[in-house]
Amino acid sequence: MELAAALVAAALIALFIRYTTRKSPKGNLPPLVPGCIPLIGNVIGFNRKCPHFTLTDWARKYGDIFRFKVLGETIVVLNSSDYVRDALIYKADDFAGRPFLFRVHYGFHYAKDIIFGSISTKWLLMKRYAAQFLRAYTSGLADIDGLVEEELNILVRLFNEKNAVDFDPSLILMTAVVNGITASLLGKRYNHDHPLMVEYKSTTRLFSESCSSVQGMELDLFPWLRFLPNTTFVKLNQARDQIDHFVDTELAEINSKLDHQNPKCMLDAFLIKAMEDEKNAVQLPITSADVRCIFVDILVSGTLTSSIAMSSFVLIMAQHQDLQRDLQSQVDRTLGKRKIPTPSDRKSMPLIEAAMLETLRFISHIPLNLPHFTMCDTQVGGYDIPKDTMVMLNLWAVHHDPRIWDEPWKFNPNRFLDASGNPVSNDHVLRKSLLPFGAGRRMCLGESLARERLFLFATVLLRNFTFLPSISTPSTCDPCDFDLGLILEPKPFQIRAEPRKVSESYEQ
Ligand code: HEM
Repeated sequence: MELAAALVAAALIALFIRYTTRKSPKGNLPPLVPGCIPLIGNVIGFNRKCPHFTLTDWARKYGDIFRFKVLGETIVVLNSSDYVRDALIYKADDFAGRPFLFRVHYGFHYAKDIIFGSISTKWLLMKRYAAQFLRAYTSGLADIDGLVEEELNILVRLFNEKNAVDFDPSLILMTAVVNGITASLLGKRYNHDHPLMVEYKSTTRLFSESCSSVQGMELDLFPWLRFLPNTTFVKLNQARDQIDHFVDTELAEINSKLDHQNPKCMLDAFLIKAMEDEKNAVQLPITSADVRCIFVDILVSGTLTSSIAMSSFVLIMAQHQDLQRDLQSQVDRTLGKRKIPTPSDRKSMPLIEAAMLETLRFISHIPLNLPHFTMCDTQVGGYDIPKDTMVMLNLWAVHHDPRIWDEPWKFNPNRFLDASGNPVSNDHVLRKSLLPFGAGRRMCLGESLARERLFLFATVLLRNFTFLPSISTPSTCDPCDFDLGLILEPKPFQIRAEPRKVSESYEQ
């Protein structure tokens, strides 16, 4: 009891100091959400479990740009496609920073990485090399394509083993997706019951529980709380230890097999670059510590996002039988007698591509993007946004904005196709307003890899199975019911995967 009272008192003092020492910014600032209480800010009525609901509701009431306060921190929120694109694309450098958030700094190597690092010459170098090496090892190399094909075959076998009874596909899909990424990153795949893979699944859960935007937010505001008993910090430490274990194990193996003349994967290429930089004593070298950061970045950012997109897609298919039939007939027509697709099939399957885009729009599972931070005084929509302001890009509002999307809550891939069934061009208003990977300077590094792998997984599943809703535990695919951890994800659900009859699936 005494400890609790001391904690509350300490938090109040810290809050008071933070509040009284902050300078009030000047200028034509975005409107402040009404109901802001001194010290605590706009916390009353704020939906901590679904902050994107509150912010979208405020956007309807107070406009496409506003600011609100939480415990002395001012946050500007952009809610329309025009404003988000203005900030991310046309003023990319102004909005290219990331705010200091203790949990992610502590969890991700003190932000010396790409995702959470601040812009610097070194950061630009790391992102440039990461993009270059990722492109080189996405597909088109026999070893990597072979690993991905093996994974697709195993995925089909594992779903077949479910014998068309109800099951939760999420963990199988997650392992398949992780393997799709590690094929490029590490040049290897893992058996679905491999101890590292089992541990990795618990690691993502721990990261979700400790770094989710709401649970444990007190650590971002008062990092010193970590010196007192704090369950969020315990989970964060455990997640960090487990990810370090994964990285140490794999780096040791990669180093022991490294062939300097013949790099087989992205990490080989990075390690060779780091060794050459050290040998040549270059002024701004890529170091082995940077390689570690990039390893963690790609593993964590690439796998959770893609696997939740994939399990949401399967859930959506189970609820949209007519659409599933249309998608299957495009897959059948393109693959002919083949059961396994290749990346080059993508251009022949615009409806599948459109369905993947629509999945990312519909679920918007990174609803508020990653937070940005202004690098200088700047403006959006005629309002001033001072340097060092945290900015949230409300992709949830943009992707469900009725001014842009006809029936935004309807899952309709055809919106991304023209009258002849071809993809609408990249400068079509709908394509410009679809920003699941962000845009500009901090744009997602893995968009190409993610879209290619999602295409392969979706196609192989539709080719071999028809997804049906579970009879015993029916579930909806409404993204408003998803839970927010690190990102939004469907509540645990079950479906049936009915193997398609050969004659049906090979019909031309
Ligand atoms: C469906 C899959 C994915 C989605 C929806 C997604 C989405 C995003 C978003 C919204 C951002 C933040 C952009 C911003 O701050 O403006 C981001 C950043 C990032 N993503 Fe992805 N991502 C996906 C897959 C991947 C994959 C497969 C990789 C790696 C191979 C990856 C690596 C990264 C990295 C390194 C960043 C940080 C970029 C920076 O801060 O400059 N992502 N992603």
